[in-house]
Amino acid sequence: MTAPTPHPSTEGRTPYPVGLLLAGRRVVVVGGGQVAQRRLPALIATGAELHLISPATTPAVQAMADAGELTWHPRPYQDGDLAGAWYALVATDDPAVNAAVSAEAERERVFCARSDDAAAATAWTPASGRDAGATVAVLTGDPRHSAALRDAIVDGLRDGSLAARQYRAHGAGVALVGGGPGDPDLITVRGRRLLADADVVVADRLAPRELLAELPEHVEVIDASKIPYGRFMAQEAINRTLIEHAKAGKFVVRLKGGDPYVFGRGGEELLACAEAGLPVTVVPGISSSISVPAAAGVPVTHRGMTHEFTVISGHVGPDDDRSLTNWEAAAKMSGTLVLLMAVDKIGAIAAKLVEHGRPADTPVAIVQEGTTAAQRRVDATLGTVAAVVDAEGIKPPAVIVIGDVVNVLAAAFRR
Ligand SMILES: C[S@@+](CC[C@H](N)C(=O)[O-])C[C@H]1O[C@@H](n2cnc3c(N)ncnc32)[C@H](O)[C@@H]1O
Repeated sequence: MTAPTPHPSTEGRTPYPVGLLLAGRRVVVVGGGQVAQRRLPALIATGAELHLISPATTPAVQAMADAGELTWHPRPYQDGDLAGAWYALVATDDPAVNAAVSAEAERERVFCARSDDAAAATAWTPASGRDAGATVAVLTGDPRHSAALRDAIVDGLRDGSLAARQYRAHGAGVALVGGGPGDPDLITVRGRRLLADADVVVADRLAPRELLAELPEHVEVIDASKIPYGRFMAQEAINRTLIEHAKAGKFVVRLKGGDPYVFGRGGEELLACAEAGLPVTVVPGISSSISVPAAAGVPVTHRGMTHEFTVISGHVGPDDDRSLTNWEAAAKMSGTLVLLMAVDKIGAIAAKLVEHGRPADTPVAIVQEGTTAAQRRVDATLGTVAAVVDAEGIKPPAVIVIGDVVNVLAAAFRR
């Protein structure tokens, strides 16, 4: 193997890495084009007193000026513009201007980054990214190599494949993490990161299984549906499991399907942990109520067609005293209805909706095991859905979508 050849412009020059704390300090950027546009957000984030000198800017840079994030001086650079600056960035497409700014910077001892000529610069902008409170900055001398390395590091931090094993970001406590609808790619970046940090994972049946397979050996995985509950309610036993492990000093991730607060009993778990004095982090998840229809080609809203979608649990039927849903009102609304946990009761629900005014020919889509390899969509109408669910042997988990949106993308999906 040969060592990579240093970029010609940087050969023989070893940069000294440093993090500049620029808040409240004057920083001058010369040039308002694409390069400035890319670099400015990170400078704005530092809280620097930012001055941009350029006769013209891109619309995005103009928007930053309009928002008061920087002061734009709409004119060409003049000698003296770097007075009082701590740092300068020159990014015009005129080499003579760039050289003049560099010369002033050298004279005034202001570190100056140059987009056109790394060899003439006194500061190099690293390829940088942030994840989990860490700033990653890579300098290789070759900007493309730096960016590729930065991407690899940030991606690794995000998916947990790169982690400082000796450093624990989380002490004892509980995180309620929404795992998304089933496809392991549909958990959030934060959810995945917390999962990678867990000592104990208490997983729901609908939490993405593949994510559990990736966990390191030492992580204890507890199947929430198998926790023995003896004289307690199942949910109470789950709460106790979370609390006991966290009290024993573990970082416990409660991995749930979809979003923790959409028919997920996340609120009860949060209250139980809070009562036990435990810190709880809640990470929202992509709920099956929106993502499962989407995965099967059904948008829950569509312009000009529906101005609302209503998500309803069908775990108790419409004539059950325990039902908290106003089915009559739901029938009378014109928008999309999304039913979760409704496979068993769909016959009674459909009949109730028709009884209160939803046309029997309203389109219905039933999506079983959405976003997984076993995803299956079956179509019906309100009038036929009970028979179709029965004949097709539909089993939970399934999301049932009712409304004109069911067919709105049909043309594209048939192609
Ligand atoms: C107890 S609820 C939990 C919902 C979850 N918290 C969410 O936000 O998606 C379980 C119901 O969600 C729906 N569900 C969850 N994941 C699903 C999937 N991958 N495909 C179809 N339905 C799903 C089914 O209606 C299932 O009975």
